[in-house]
Amino acid sequence: MKILVVTANPKPKQISVSMTIMSKFIELFEQENKNAVFEYRDVSNYPHLSGNDLRDYQNPNGKVAEIAKEFATYDKYIFVSPMWNLSVPSGMKAYIDHLVIPQVTFTYEKRNPKPVGLIKNKKALFITTSGGHFGVAPMNEWDHNVLYMKHILEHIGIDDYTPLYVPLAHRGGLPAQERVEQEMKTIEEIAKKW
Ligand SMILES: Cc1cc2nc3c(=O)[nH]c(=O)nc-3n(C[C@H](O)[C@H](O)[C@H](O)COP(=O)(O)O)c2cc1C
Repeated sequence: MKILVVTANPKPKQISVSMTIMSKFIELFEQENKNAVFEYRDVSNYPHLSGNDLRDYQNPNGKVAEIAKEFATYDKYIFVSPMWNLSVPSGMKAYIDHLVIPQVTFTYEKRNPKPVGLIKNKKALFITTSGGHFGVAPMNEWDHNVLYMKHILEHIGIDDYTPLYVPLAHRGGLPAQERVEQEMKTIEEIAKKW
């Protein structure tokens, strides 16, 4: 089982709550899934689509499409990023802009208002954190993070989506390791069934 781990956080790993959750999750997941092979991609500084990229963008045999095709070769995906200004950090968005490619990862059908994703039978986990709490009203309407990832992954066909969202990441001013200890039950439960 090939798993792609996409991270977007320039913080040193040991002080990052989301990256610490990722390490714990992978440690637990590996215990249950000895055949898992992980590949890591740090997209914190992923380049934006350029003018040249856009000229080639709709070409299913072009350079941008190559990135999307390579992405499609994995069985499972783990995305890891904190909420930044209500959404994902721009490096994550820039990487996603290279994945959502017409006729490669999605298409449209007549009389269907929804895009039809072409990456089938895959699973995605989104490990994310925020300083505030966007899981409950009224702030859930401000969430362009957990819901954005759900929708953009569904756009390309990945509809088996699990968010591992830890709000109030800095609660108690604890070091990352200690804050993550408080979430171990959730992390263990998801690692067992994912
Ligand atoms: C540039 C920036 C923007 C942020 N925007 C938000 C935000 O919109 N809402 C929020 O609740 N927290 C926000 N935060 C706080 C982060 O979400 C929080 O520090 C992070 O999730 C902690 O996880 P980490 O240690 O893995 O980075 C922001 C932090 C930074 C650095």
